[in-house]
Amino acid sequence: MEHFDVIIIGAGPAGYVAAIRCAQLGKKTAIIDASASLGGTCLNVGCIPSKALLESSELYSQSQTDFQQHGINISQISLDLTVTQNRKQKIVTELTTGISALMKSNKISVFHGDGLLETETQVNIKHASDSNISITGSHIILAPGSKPAVLKPALVDNNLIVDSTGALAFDSVPKSLAVIGAGVIGLELGSVWQRYGSHVVVYEFLDSLLPMADLEISKQANRVLKKQGLEFHFGSEVIKTEIAENNVKLTYKDHTGEHVENFDKVLVATGRVPNTSTICSNKVALKIDEKGFIEVDEQCKTNIDTIYAIGDAVRGPMLAHKASEEAVMVAELIAGNFGKVNYDIIPFVIYTHPEIAWCGATEQQVKQKDIDYNVGKFRFMANGRAKAAGHTDGLIKIIADKKTDRILGVHMIGAQVSELIMQAVIAMEFKASSEDLALMMYAHPTLSEVFHEAALDVTGQAIHSIR
Ligand code: NAI
Repeated sequence: MEHFDVIIIGAGPAGYVAAIRCAQLGKKTAIIDASASLGGTCLNVGCIPSKALLESSELYSQSQTDFQQHGINISQISLDLTVTQNRKQKIVTELTTGISALMKSNKISVFHGDGLLETETQVNIKHASDSNISITGSHIILAPGSKPAVLKPALVDNNLIVDSTGALAFDSVPKSLAVIGAGVIGLELGSVWQRYGSHVVVYEFLDSLLPMADLEISKQANRVLKKQGLEFHFGSEVIKTEIAENNVKLTYKDHTGEHVENFDKVLVATGRVPNTSTICSNKVALKIDEKGFIEVDEQCKTNIDTIYAIGDAVRGPMLAHKASEEAVMVAELIAGNFGKVNYDIIPFVIYTHPEIAWCGATEQQVKQKDIDYNVGKFRFMANGRAKAAGHTDGLIKIIADKKTDRILGVHMIGAQVSELIMQAVIAMEFKASSEDLALMMYAHPTLSEVFHEAALDVTGQAIHSIR
């Protein structure tokens, strides 16, 4: 049986990053993944293909609504969804092939098959061809990721009722699409198909979208997305779906009673669950909680000394970048070095148009903790670059401690805030005050000036604010 310093199960942004860092630190490393295409959900059926479709659909939508304002008249715009889908797949293939190349260049042994923790040091790999291999490791990192949660009233048939993977692969634009869940996936994929002309109706159990976002931002997002044509039903629980010939009869319940609507397709986007049901044999006393998350401490160590777990399969937000940072931390710890993840400053980004992004505490959280605070805000409407680009929806909001002026949270909705949020992350990591930002010089004309003005506004000194 071949022995490795580190064995990693799962080759998503958690596992493959852990493998690379372990190899960089001189460890003999093995990685196991069931799929021949490395990169996990993120690269294959998540972040990357969804961003490819978001980009294509946004251009399509702009060609219909914005180009004329720029004096560009195109008489006939048509959509070739096959080209769009092929472009998406090409991007995925290039990136996943790139991960295989990285494994090779770092001399990491890649095994394809289902990895099962047989004992605390042994992993069995079951290949589709039924050949079994076992390897042993001094340390094991579990990075099995997550899968879509099953919603009993709307079971996925991969045809009319789909999860996020199915909704990334439609070969024609559905006339009508019901989205169950106004979370991240619902809003991003709902936006894609709405831009291509689908009538998209979102059913959300709660009273607002994105409950984890700052309330002001989620209200603004609701307004903007509604204006774009997305229809929202809040306080609505989907209780039944029936497949008729070529459509789905969906029953939902709200405070007025039960209602039935018909749709061409239904997207179930009601959360994801950890992929841990087959991770270990019953010979291993690995602690897994009742929701399927592997129990870990701050340093991602499980209850077994030599086994770590990272990414979507452990507590915390299911985000690729959080998974990758845990991967680096764990590799460093295994090598006997310092390793830490700052869970207080995780950037969140939702790739709607306009984009939504935040880091740190929301205003509701600050209130709940009874912290005295100041708020500075600035709207994209009053920013020259945003006006020139024609993207004036949205605002940036900075929450700072009243006593120390330390930045506690930054919340954004607007053009390119997926990039702008990193200014806030860097500032917060360096423990900046709002005054630190206010005193800096920002290039003009840039969208970043909205962040500068929001910092100035914390003490009521924004220059371009009409009071
Ligand atoms: P989510 O947890 O963000 O949202 C699910 C929503 O469905 C909730 O608001 C919930 O109240 C609602 N819901 C549940 N059951 C319902 C029912 N029967 N009827 C109506 N509404 C119901 O889950 P989502 O959007 O599926 O995303 C899963 C994970 O993937 C998240 O943790 C997210 O962070 C991650 N992700 C992140 C992305 C990003 O960072 N841009 C992109 C895509 C996914």
